[in-house]
Amino acid sequence: MAVRIERDGAVAVVTMSRPEALNAFNTEQLAALRDAVDEVAADRSVRCAILTGEGRAFAAGADIKEMAGKSPQEGLAFGRLGHAIGLAINAAPQPWIAAINGHALGGGCEIALACDIRLASETATLGQPEVGLGILPGWGATQRLTRLVGPGIASELIFTGRRLKAPEALALGLVNAVYPLDGLMNKAREMAATIAANSPTAVAASKRMIALALDGPLANGLAREAETFALSFGTADQREGMAAFVEKRAAAFTGE
Ligand code: CAA
Repeated sequence: MAVRIERDGAVAVVTMSRPEALNAFNTEQLAALRDAVDEVAADRSVRCAILTGEGRAFAAGADIKEMAGKSPQEGLAFGRLGHAIGLAINAAPQPWIAAINGHALGGGCEIALACDIRLASETATLGQPEVGLGILPGWGATQRLTRLVGPGIASELIFTGRRLKAPEALALGLVNAVYPLDGLMNKAREMAATIAANSPTAVAASKRMIALALDGPLANGLAREAETFALSFGTADQREGMAAFVEKRAAAFTGE
């Protein structure tokens, strides 16, 4: 199987597995990832997802050998398939953590950029080397990298195509934290477990509101936040969370 889904309680670990090609995405691999994201996103018992790669790469990008023969029409379909994965991750109610265990280049970096949080191993390299191949980033970097690190840094990284080591990626805000490779998955699982113990309705609503911050005027975002905050007072999770505080016990959220 090209993409594996494993469950650990309320956490799903999705592993891209084509290690002989450093998890490069051919159409088959891309479709398998899209199906896996759709499956996890639709599963209400999953409260947080971790995306990682098998072997020494997270994903070394789109499959250059497959892309070499593509026409503009085929390029459009390939670009849209990559976009569909990023948009499905963004639309998923659960947070997605990219556990970047090695190379995350081109489309691999773009899939990580679509995740809500990025944790990297000390061995990770990140970058958008597409312009050196005669194409531009096609699965979201011109938009998401720019939003994440600002236009100046995004321009430099995309125009030069240079590859960053993990400490520089951390300094630029491209990743949230860097860990030794052998501790990366434990750190990702710990963070996922912390998120999974919180109210799924409140986490999902927060994710929707954070997305709005990048997509429109502040006044509109604040108006939506006020409405969504109000609606949270109609949930069982709000009653449970506050009752648990008052009763000095851990909350048991149902996501209702
Ligand atoms: N596509 C196809 N195959 C790839 C690949 C890719 N993106 N990246 C690595 N591979 C394959 C290699 O061809 C090699 O296979 P063979 O042994 O059959 O030749 C195998 O994976 C191992 O790779 P290397 O021998 O190159 O390993 P390395 O350790 O020497 O180098 C690397 C690792 C620096 C990541 C190097 O493989 C590399 O630079 N890969 C390409 C990275 C890249 O340019 N990615 C962007 C792709 S374009 C894109 O993603 C478009 C988009 O925006 C959607």
